[in-house]
Amino acid sequence: MAAPPPVLRTPRLTMRPFRQEDREPFARINADPEVMEHFLAPLSREDSDRLIDRINSGFAAHGFGLWALVGAAEGQLLGFTGLSIPRFAAPFSPAVEIGWRLRRSAWGQGLATEAATAALDFGFGSAGLEEVVSFTSVGNIRSQAVMRRLGMTHDPGDDFQHPLVPPGHPLAPHLLFRISRERWVGRRR
Ligand SMILES: CC(C)(COP(=O)(O)OP(=O)(O)OC[C@H]1O[C@@H](n2cnc3c(N)ncnc32)[C@H](O)[C@@H]1OP(=O)(O)O)[C@@H](O)C(=O)NCCC(=O)NCCS
Repeated sequence: MAAPPPVLRTPRLTMRPFRQEDREPFARINADPEVMEHFLAPLSREDSDRLIDRINSGFAAHGFGLWALVGAAEGQLLGFTGLSIPRFAAPFSPAVEIGWRLRRSAWGQGLATEAATAALDFGFGSAGLEEVVSFTSVGNIRSQAVMRRLGMTHDPGDDFQHPLVPPGHPLAPHLLFRISRERWVGRRR
């Protein structure tokens, strides 16, 4: 039988699989135009629910995934952070990606970096990964700042046009960041 999805704990967060009661607050996060500024469009309730289903099947298939972030003290859903496999082929495939999406009121507190640190500890520890990548559109400076805070590095030679964004669209050009297990472990010493 497959192992149950891992639950991670950080000083301020519990990172756990999504539950039924997360669907409504998650849909509100995905419908917020500010949160979704760097995506083609906010998500409908149906698309948000489908994303939860896809996230949960990802955990079953890979043993890692996008964890629901909840405040350790009050248990409120703050968004997600975690590891996933990109759904498209790119020059850097195959790869495991780290990503994050937090409700607007949770920005500016270091919570994405705190959650991503736990996710990378898990990825390079229990999951045995050798490298993790992250990518975002050129304008998503906040997301790039998280990547840099984690010690991920950017080589302009890796940049790419996102194949699921229409060519010529301002959101098409993407920056790729990488971090190796060796570099992560060195930073955590
Ligand atoms: C990308 C995103 C997760 C970044 O969130 P964030 O809160 O800026 O990132 P961090 O958790 O690293 O927090 C850093 C900020 O918290 C501040 N901070 C406050 N307390 C802190 C603490 N204890 N530790 C670290 N940073 C702290 C930092 O100074 C920094 O502030 P600044 O933005 O004024 O420079 C968020 O903007 C988001 O959800 N965006 C929408 C979704 C999205 O675009 N996702 C990425 C798609 S690729």
